[in-house]
Amino acid sequence: MSITVHTPAKVNLFLKVKGKRQDGYHELLTVFQSVDLCDTLYISLNGSGINITAPEHIPQHHGNLAYSAAKAFYASTGLRSGVSIALKKTIPVEAGLGGGSSDAAAVLRALNMLYHQPLTDAQMRHLASQLGSDVSFFLYGGMAVGKGRGEIIEPLPDVLPLWFRLVKPPFGLSTPLVYANWDGTSHADWKEFWQSLKGPVEGLRLFNDLEAPAVRIRPELSSLKSQLLQNGAVQALLSGSGSTVFGVYIQQPDIDMTLPEGYRQWTVRALSRAEMGRECNILG
Ligand code: C5P
Repeated sequence: MSITVHTPAKVNLFLKVKGKRQDGYHELLTVFQSVDLCDTLYISLNGSGINITAPEHIPQHHGNLAYSAAKAFYASTGLRSGVSIALKKTIPVEAGLGGGSSDAAAVLRALNMLYHQPLTDAQMRHLASQLGSDVSFFLYGGMAVGKGRGEIIEPLPDVLPLWFRLVKPPFGLSTPLVYANWDGTSHADWKEFWQSLKGPVEGLRLFNDLEAPAVRIRPELSSLKSQLLQNGAVQALLSGSGSTVFGVYIQQPDIDMTLPEGYRQWTVRALSRAEMGRECNILG
């Protein structure tokens, strides 16, 4: 039995860091939105063990979230493992786009389907939250609020048709390093963001408290933001802990931006919850 799954990336439309917790994580209030830049996973039940085929720059076993997800699934169900997972990557790594987390959630969903739902939704959510702070969101997709470490998910109705340009610099940013550079201040205004979601796209007010620490590490992110704004974006923001910066557009931007060597760009649109895993324009 095999299945092909398209696993979407996300951007954070809002990210407030509320403080550092006893366990070393940071307490968040964030809003995720899935977008149609996708990896592709080919998953077959066969043989024994967990066999991963992934591009060279991705860890093949430990450190690969797709592998960890399969391992956690078998440990939790007590089923004998026997799966091959071929991972075709399009979503860049260390980019703040949740690629590894999306792959992990897709593996959990696919295995639970192929084995006829041995795990309940609550068990799936528990496994996802143990794998990483962003994995739980990808069990839902669409637009959703994330609380706690980001793993407590409250789905939101899809609000707006949104177009984004994602720009990924040649460098990545390490999530722990960006959090470690957060100076304890927060400028993310939930009320302003929430009100703006109800209005037209041009009035959107997006915030990310991780942008300032990311810019301290990589000052060139600031000029990238300005460039997006000069190129017709109504808003520009760092996604998650970066290094991707995205612009929001009223209509699909049709001309590529001129960027320095090594920078990559994609035009993507918001994916609704219903479209999750089906509609991916930019495939791995
Ligand atoms: O949960 P995840 O493994 O994705 O987190 C990676 C790292 O990012 C954590 O070890 C921590 O340093 C940082 N992090 C954090 N607060 C969060 C999420 C992640 O400090 N809410």
